[in-house]
Amino acid sequence: MQSSEQKSSNVVWHNATVTRKRREEMNGHGGVILWFTGLSGAGKSSLSHAVEEALHSMGCHTFVMDGDNVRHGLCADLGFSSEDRVENIRRVGEMSKLFIEAGVIVLTAFISPFRSDRERVRSLVPHGDFMEIFCSTPLEVCEERDVKGLYKRARAGEIKEFTGISSPYEAPVDPELVVETGKLSIEDSVAKVMELLRERGIVRE
Ligand code: ADX
Repeated sequence: MQSSEQKSSNVVWHNATVTRKRREEMNGHGGVILWFTGLSGAGKSSLSHAVEEALHSMGCHTFVMDGDNVRHGLCADLGFSSEDRVENIRRVGEMSKLFIEAGVIVLTAFISPFRSDRERVRSLVPHGDFMEIFCSTPLEVCEERDVKGLYKRARAGEIKEFTGISSPYEAPVDPELVVETGKLSIEDSVAKVMELLRERGIVRE
Protein backbone atom coordinates (compact mmCIF):
# COMPACT_ATOMS: atom_id res chain seq x y z
CA MET A 1 0.00 0.00 0.00
CA GLN A 2 1.62 3.28 -1.07
CA SER A 3 -0.63 5.68 0.79
CA SER A 4 -2.87 5.81 3.80
CA GLU A 5 -5.97 4.78 1.79
CA GLN A 6 -7.68 1.94 3.53
CA LYS A 7 -8.28 -1.20 1.53
CA SER A 8 -9.78 -3.31 4.25
CA SER A 9 -13.49 -2.94 4.86
CA ASN A 10 -15.61 -4.12 7.78
CA VAL A 11 -12.99 -3.20 10.32
CA VAL A 12 -14.09 -1.24 13.35
CA TRP A 13 -11.79 0.78 15.61
CA HIS A 14 -11.56 -0.64 19.11
CA ASN A 15 -10.86 1.89 21.85
CA ALA A 16 -8.28 0.94 24.47
CA THR A 17 -9.30 1.31 28.09
CA VAL A 18 -5.68 1.80 29.10
CA THR A 19 -5.32 5.15 27.40
CA ARG A 20 -2.30 7.15 26.35
CA LYS A 21 -2.99 9.58 29.20
CA ARG A 22 -2.93 6.78 31.77
CA ARG A 23 0.28 5.38 30.33
CA GLU A 24 1.91 8.83 30.37
CA GLU A 25 0.87 9.36 33.99
CA MET A 26 2.45 6.05 34.90
CA ASN A 27 5.62 6.89 32.95
CA GLY A 28 5.90 10.39 34.42
CA HIS A 29 6.49 11.97 31.02
CA GLY A 30 4.72 12.55 27.74
CA GLY A 31 4.99 10.58 24.53
CA VAL A 32 6.49 12.43 21.59
CA ILE A 33 8.15 11.81 18.23
CA LEU A 34 11.63 13.28 17.85
CA TRP A 35 12.10 13.11 14.11
CA PHE A 36 15.78 13.41 13.17
CA THR A 37 16.28 14.16 9.49
CA GLY A 38 19.40 14.84 7.42
CA LEU A 39 21.79 13.34 4.91
CA SER A 40 23.39 9.93 5.30
CA GLY A 41 26.33 10.43 7.65
CA ALA A 42 24.89 13.62 9.19
CA GLY A 43 24.86 12.03 12.63
CA LYS A 44 21.15 11.22 13.01
CA SER A 45 21.72 7.76 14.47
CA SER A 46 24.56 8.82 16.78
CA LEU A 47 22.61 11.78 18.09
CA SER A 48 19.32 9.92 18.54
CA HIS A 49 21.05 7.09 20.46
CA ALA A 50 22.94 9.59 22.62
CA VAL A 51 19.69 11.46 23.41
CA GLU A 52 18.08 8.11 24.19
CA GLU A 53 20.90 7.34 26.65
CA ALA A 54 20.30 10.66 28.40
CA LEU A 55 16.55 10.06 28.59
CA HIS A 56 16.92 6.44 29.62
CA SER A 57 19.20 7.38 32.50
CA MET A 58 16.44 9.74 33.70
CA GLY A 59 14.00 6.81 33.73
CA CYS A 60 12.15 7.73 30.53
CA HIS A 61 10.54 5.16 28.24
CA THR A 62 12.21 5.51 24.86
CA PHE A 63 12.79 3.75 21.57
CA VAL A 64 15.02 4.54 18.58
CA MET A 65 13.94 3.57 15.08
CA ASP A 66 16.72 3.82 12.60
CA GLY A 67 16.71 3.52 8.79
CA ASP A 68 19.53 1.02 8.59
CA ASN A 69 17.78 -1.27 11.15
CA VAL A 70 14.17 -0.92 10.03
CA ARG A 71 15.25 -1.72 6.49
CA HIS A 72 16.37 -5.16 7.73
CA GLY A 73 12.84 -6.05 8.82
CA LEU A 74 9.66 -3.99 8.61
CA CYS A 75 10.88 -2.25 5.45
CA ALA A 76 13.16 -4.97 4.03
CA ASP A 77 11.02 -5.03 0.86
CA LEU A 78 11.80 -1.38 0.07
CA GLY A 79 14.65 0.15 -1.90
CA PHE A 80 15.60 3.77 -2.51
CA SER A 81 13.34 4.87 -5.36
CA SER A 82 11.18 7.89 -4.48
CA GLU A 83 8.12 5.62 -4.16
CA ASP A 84 9.90 3.28 -1.80
CA ARG A 85 11.21 6.12 0.35
CA VAL A 86 7.67 7.54 0.59
CA GLU A 87 6.42 4.14 1.73
CA ASN A 88 9.33 3.72 4.16
CA ILE A 89 8.47 6.99 5.89
CA ARG A 90 4.73 6.26 5.82
CA ARG A 91 5.28 2.97 7.67
CA VAL A 92 7.68 4.51 10.16
CA GLY A 93 5.25 7.38 10.71
CA GLU A 94 2.38 5.01 11.48
CA MET A 95 4.63 2.95 13.74
CA SER A 96 5.78 6.08 15.58
CA LYS A 97 2.16 7.07 16.08
CA LEU A 98 1.54 3.74 17.83
CA PHE A 99 4.60 4.30 20.02
CA ILE A 100 3.38 7.68 21.25
CA GLU A 101 -0.01 6.09 21.99
CA ALA A 102 2.06 3.74 24.17
CA GLY A 103 3.43 6.81 25.97
CA VAL A 104 6.93 6.36 24.62
CA ILE A 105 9.45 8.99 23.50
CA VAL A 106 10.24 7.69 20.04
CA LEU A 107 13.36 8.89 18.26
CA THR A 108 13.52 8.26 14.52
CA ALA A 109 16.68 8.46 12.43
CA PHE A 110 15.77 8.38 8.76
CA ILE A 111 17.08 10.54 5.93
CA SER A 112 13.39 11.19 5.16
CA PRO A 113 14.40 13.39 2.23
CA PHE A 114 10.95 14.61 1.21
CA ARG A 115 9.31 17.50 3.02
CA SER A 116 5.81 16.28 2.20
CA ASP A 117 6.47 12.90 3.85
CA ARG A 118 7.70 14.51 7.05
CA GLU A 119 4.71 16.84 7.07
CA ARG A 120 2.40 13.86 6.59
CA VAL A 121 3.80 12.26 9.72
CA ARG A 122 3.42 15.55 11.58
CA SER A 123 -0.25 15.65 10.57
CA LEU A 124 -0.83 12.07 11.82
CA VAL A 125 -0.39 13.03 15.46
CA PRO A 126 -1.76 15.77 17.74
CA HIS A 127 -0.21 19.22 17.44
CA GLY A 128 3.12 19.40 19.27
CA ASP A 129 3.69 15.63 19.32
CA PHE A 130 6.02 15.71 16.32
CA MET A 131 9.31 17.56 16.64
CA GLU A 132 11.48 17.83 13.61
CA ILE A 133 15.20 17.96 14.36
CA PHE A 134 17.37 18.85 11.41
CA CYS A 135 20.89 17.40 11.54
CA SER A 136 22.26 20.03 9.22
CA THR A 137 25.71 18.71 8.40
CA PRO A 138 26.60 19.88 4.85
CA LEU A 139 27.03 17.34 2.07
CA GLU A 140 30.77 18.10 1.81
CA VAL A 141 31.29 17.12 5.44
CA CYS A 142 29.19 13.92 5.17
CA GLU A 143 31.04 12.98 2.02
CA GLU A 144 34.40 13.74 3.56
CA ARG A 145 33.57 11.53 6.57
CA ASP A 146 32.01 8.81 4.40
CA VAL A 147 31.82 6.44 7.36
CA LYS A 148 30.20 3.62 5.36
CA GLY A 149 32.06 4.30 2.10
CA LEU A 150 28.71 4.83 0.35
CA TYR A 151 29.39 8.34 -1.03
CA LYS A 152 32.48 7.08 -2.81
CA ARG A 153 30.47 4.27 -4.37
CA ALA A 154 27.64 6.66 -5.27
CA ARG A 155 30.11 9.03 -6.98
CA ALA A 156 31.51 6.06 -8.89
CA GLY A 157 27.98 5.28 -10.08
CA GLU A 158 27.84 1.98 -8.19
CA ILE A 159 24.90 3.11 -6.05
CA LYS A 160 22.01 4.73 -7.88
CA GLU A 161 19.65 7.35 -6.43
CA PHE A 162 21.93 8.21 -3.56
CA THR A 163 20.66 11.10 -1.44
CA GLY A 164 22.62 14.30 -2.00
CA ILE A 165 24.39 12.87 -5.06
CA SER A 166 21.76 11.55 -7.42
CA SER A 167 18.57 11.87 -5.37
CA PRO A 168 17.26 15.04 -3.71
CA TYR A 169 17.22 16.06 -0.06
CA GLU A 170 14.67 18.70 0.88
CA ALA A 171 15.84 20.50 4.02
CA PRO A 172 13.20 21.39 6.62
CA VAL A 173 11.77 24.91 6.31
CA ASP A 174 10.72 25.46 9.91
CA PRO A 175 12.04 22.62 12.10
CA GLU A 176 11.62 22.66 15.87
CA LEU A 177 15.41 22.43 16.13
CA VAL A 178 18.48 22.68 13.92
CA VAL A 179 21.59 20.91 15.18
CA GLU A 180 24.81 21.63 13.35
CA THR A 181 26.09 18.13 13.95
CA GLY A 182 29.19 18.85 11.85
CA LYS A 183 30.30 21.63 14.22
CA LEU A 184 28.98 20.68 17.67
CA SER A 185 30.26 17.94 19.93
CA ILE A 186 27.85 15.09 20.60
CA GLU A 187 27.45 16.37 24.21
CA ASP A 188 26.47 19.85 23.02
CA SER A 189 24.12 18.39 20.43
CA VAL A 190 22.41 16.24 23.09
CA ALA A 191 22.14 19.29 25.37
CA LYS A 192 20.29 21.20 22.65
CA VAL A 193 17.75 18.42 22.22
CA MET A 194 17.29 18.06 25.98
CA GLU A 195 16.72 21.80 26.28
CA LEU A 196 13.98 21.56 23.65
CA LEU A 197 12.34 18.70 25.57
CA ARG A 198 12.37 20.69 28.80
CA GLU A 199 11.04 23.82 27.06
CA ARG A 200 8.17 21.83 25.62
CA GLY A 201 7.41 20.20 28.96
CA ILE A 202 8.14 16.65 27.77
CA VAL A 203 10.65 16.09 30.59
CA ARG A 204 11.01 18.07 33.80
CA GLU A 205 14.59 17.65 35.00
S1 ADX B 1 15.07 7.17 3.51
O1 ADX B 1 15.49 8.04 2.40
O2 ADX B 1 14.08 6.18 3.09
O3 ADX B 1 14.64 7.93 4.69
P1 ADX B 1 16.72 5.57 5.27
O4 ADX B 1 17.04 6.54 6.35
O5 ADX B 1 15.65 4.56 5.52
O6 ADX B 1 16.41 6.38 3.91
O7 ADX B 1 18.04 4.75 4.88
C1 ADX B 1 19.22 5.45 4.65
C2 ADX B 1 20.45 4.58 4.84
O8 ADX B 1 20.50 3.56 3.85
C3 ADX B 1 21.70 5.40 4.66
O9 ADX B 1 22.22 5.85 5.90
C4 ADX B 1 22.66 4.47 3.98
O10 ADX B 1 23.42 3.76 4.95
C5 ADX B 1 21.80 3.46 3.28
N1 ADX B 1 21.63 3.66 1.81
C6 ADX B 1 21.81 2.67 0.90
N2 ADX B 1 21.51 3.10 -0.33
C7 ADX B 1 21.15 4.41 -0.22
C8 ADX B 1 20.71 5.41 -1.16
N3 ADX B 1 20.59 5.15 -2.47
N4 ADX B 1 20.42 6.65 -0.69
C9 ADX B 1 20.55 6.91 0.63
N5 ADX B 1 20.93 6.02 1.57
C10 ADX B 1 21.22 4.76 1.16
